[in-house]
Amino acid sequence: MLDLLQPTEAPGWVLAHEGYNVLTESAVESRFALGNGFLGMRAARSTSRGPTWVSWLGYIRWASWPRCYVAGLFDMPNTEPPVPALVPVADWSRVRLILDGEPLVSREGEMLRGLRRLDMRRGVLLSEWTHRTPAGITATGHELRLLSLADRAAGLQVQRVVLDRDGVDVRLEASFGLAGLGMEPIRLKNEVGTWRTEGTGKVVAMAGGAELRLEGASVPAERPFPLRWIWRWRSKAGQVAELARHVAVARSDRPAEDPTPHAEAALERGTNLGWRAVLRAHEAAWNDHWEDGGIDIDGDDDLERALRFAVYHLTSAANPDDDRVSIGARGLTGDAYFGHVFWDTETYLLPYYTAVWPEAARALLMYRYHMLPAARAKAELFGYRGALYPWESADTGEETTPETVLGPAGQPVEILTGKMEHHISADIAYAVWQYWRATGDDDFFRDAGVEILVETARFWASRAVAEADGGRHIRHVIGPDEYHEDVDDNAFTNVMARWNIARALDALDLLRKRWPDHAAALQDRIALDDGELDDWRDAVARIVTGLDPTTGLYEQFAGFHALKPLDVRDYVTHALPIDVVIGREQTQGSQVVKQADVVALIALLPEAFPGEGAAVNFRHYEPRCAHGSSLSAAMHARVAARLGDSEMALRYMRETASLDLDPDPNSAGGVRIAGLGGLWQAAILGIAGLNLAGETLELDPKLPPTWRRLSFKVRWRGRSVGLSITGDAVEATLIDGDEIDITVAGDTRTLQPRSPLHVSRSSAAFRGAVDVDA
Ligand code: BGC
Repeated sequence: MLDLLQPTEAPGWVLAHEGYNVLTESAVESRFALGNGFLGMRAARSTSRGPTWVSWLGYIRWASWPRCYVAGLFDMPNTEPPVPALVPVADWSRVRLILDGEPLVSREGEMLRGLRRLDMRRGVLLSEWTHRTPAGITATGHELRLLSLADRAAGLQVQRVVLDRDGVDVRLEASFGLAGLGMEPIRLKNEVGTWRTEGTGKVVAMAGGAELRLEGASVPAERPFPLRWIWRWRSKAGQVAELARHVAVARSDRPAEDPTPHAEAALERGTNLGWRAVLRAHEAAWNDHWEDGGIDIDGDDDLERALRFAVYHLTSAANPDDDRVSIGARGLTGDAYFGHVFWDTETYLLPYYTAVWPEAARALLMYRYHMLPAARAKAELFGYRGALYPWESADTGEETTPETVLGPAGQPVEILTGKMEHHISADIAYAVWQYWRATGDDDFFRDAGVEILVETARFWASRAVAEADGGRHIRHVIGPDEYHEDVDDNAFTNVMARWNIARALDALDLLRKRWPDHAAALQDRIALDDGELDDWRDAVARIVTGLDPTTGLYEQFAGFHALKPLDVRDYVTHALPIDVVIGREQTQGSQVVKQADVVALIALLPEAFPGEGAAVNFRHYEPRCAHGSSLSAAMHARVAARLGDSEMALRYMRETASLDLDPDPNSAGGVRIAGLGGLWQAAILGIAGLNLAGETLELDPKLPPTWRRLSFKVRWRGRSVGLSITGDAVEATLIDGDEIDITVAGDTRTLQPRSPLHVSRSSAAFRGAVDVDA
């Protein structure tokens, strides 16, 4: 019989980690984390670890950071400054094994083997361990854990334990870690616990059911306490004890709504099915996702695996059924950034969801739609009109960026991003437009999208102030390059703002033509008259951009070119970010860029870079970038790929891939999911040259010479299209939906059902080759 606790055999689907190192353990727990968009769980070992509680951690660290999360479960902890944070829920995977009265703990005796594997194909975490206790008993465990993609409320743990000898008094305890939860318990009975967050009054219920079988026969459990099961037996050498634990979770955002019955019902569904059927349904759901989101690269196993890792985490992070939550900067894989949502979601993640999983993209954009009132309030607070989205957002849409943080020497450092990083409003508008163009989801566009476009445009029109030089300026901002604060006329911000206003005008035109009643109602509701639209047109014409028409170069912000030149290559060997190495002041006075800024603009709005403009700007800014953010390298890869510089594109892709695939302690707080979304973009929007916002489905491949074939699928305007690219041919297959036009390297053809399209060229026309550094 197929052993369900063994990983997929096909190569390239399984990530393995052997052994234990306190320096990298937390990073492993992030990388191998499980998630289904509603629940998240770090890959901490379930067995043989001691308890975790909060204490002074000046010079020692937690050996492990077990954490379970529920999307949207925010509360305000007692921090200074106060900022909302995701509240962890009970770790439901904890197992204690007590042999002849002695608890098995990893720090005692000898850990002979400890292997964790993330089976990305099946979406399961598999662990194997062998431990010899100080008394000489050898115990071996195999474990499977999952958070179900077929039923998002549900989780499952199956653990098999074998001892090497007869006659040991075994006590096995399965429990939920109930201590230090940061929530008020409101009910705790046999199989279910319910808690309420203190400040926000959200309610979360967790139900659990566990069974132990010895050689197939069920053993009755002692139930000394809710959500705790104890089994005792006398061992026989080689005898298999199998623990199967189901868990189910439900959240409610209103204190009056008790989610407990939902958790109980979900638990019942799982236990009635039995763990094998729960596992099968979960695997089938993952299989469907891989069918849609899988990327095959013939000729680059490493990047193929890295892209799988990206798609694994992207799939794990989103939930199309909940449009009240979005994806935090670390997904549900760690505590860094407290679960807050940044521009990362719209700029780095949305293209994947839009092209592969539009239902998830829609939910993420609806989250922003629901938060419009808070964005309007923020704009008003700062004296502007329209909607200014928060730089960091949690569950209410209010600004949640901490106003100060502690610097390296413990001194408070003022954080200005919450006040000044305004480009997020245009980034959200961009994602709305791209989603609508790619999906043709008119209902969304009409009922929500236009309003976001219009309210953000209105913000920009009030933000871009006409001055004596005849231009409209956007002063006192922070662009994507956060090393330079309080700058004027950041090119990224201004060009995106101009684009935002222009698209809002287009959107409103279209709404008036196709849905005049909706247009009239919207204009009425938000008091938008034609005079204001004239002002928008004026803003589009007069917003300054910092473009020098003679050279084609944008100035990143007013005065950037006059800053001190600095060779970032002198600092690349430092393990620390450049602003820490040379100090904040010197960084601010230098031409050193934290992350893709003008380069990100090339990626998002290539039409703003006519002629050689993209190459000119890339050549100028790429050497000035210190990549002080995990978002940076992937965006550089995408642009290098568009410019045909495959070698550089691959180098930046590998750099991004290594961020979370290598044992990098920086992943301790969770995977850098924006980098993973960026990696997907580098391959699909960069190398394959997919344009999601065109009139037709557009492709303009620049395949690296070492890649023989790149294959993937996209959803576009209700169709599913399979694409396969080699150096001299592109093959497109309409898998689902009606015929469409498809444009390959400028050549438009019609793609018919049951008739794959083969576009071939005699030379290597679809290859990247140019070296932009040349
Ligand atoms: C980056 C931001 C990003 C944030 C969260 C920062 O270091 O500079 O662009 O949004 O991290 O990932």
